[in-house]
Amino acid sequence: MKKISITLTVNGQKKTVEVTPNERLIDVLRYRLDLRSVKAGCLKGECGSCLVLMNGKPVKSCLILAAEADGSEITTVEGLGSLNKPALIQKAFIEAFGYQCGFCTSGFILLGHWILENMPDASEEEIKEILNGILCRCTGYKQIIEAIKLAQKWKRERK
Ligand code: FES
Ligand code: FES
Repeated sequence: MKKISITLTVNGQKKTVEVTPNERLIDVLRYRLDLRSVKAGCLKGECGSCLVLMNGKPVKSCLILAAEADGSEITTVEGLGSLNKPALIQKAFIEAFGYQCGFCTSGFILLGHWILENMPDASEEEIKEILNGILCRCTGYKQIIEAIKLAQKWKRERK
């Protein structure tokens, strides 16, 4: 199949990749660029475990063709912080035990980060609505919501 050259800015770094027209964004991020925080779950747009930020907006990367993402800026959890220097939202997930098996965690952390950046004063109801697109089979969501509320509180206190 004929290949197309695309360029993405991934976590601040420019990456040029040759893709086939039917290759998905998740395939490029997880398997070609080795960003293992992008999880392959249902691959049908239902579970949200493949969520990344594309040009600042949350998207399910299994539903987007890599060619469609050409020229865009992508953020994955690897771009938020590191083990030694975690981002505020990552610290809050650790503190509030916002994870169990971790399969869904990258997506929730990215949504939490998006909330902090775009709706820092979001109410619990608004947070629940935003988290609606990701499924967690382990936590019952309570600790995830608590983690995001904790990060909101820390952010307010820092101001
Ligand atoms: S893997 Fe993309 S929504 Fe489930
Ligand atoms: S922590 Fe296991 S699926 Fe969410």
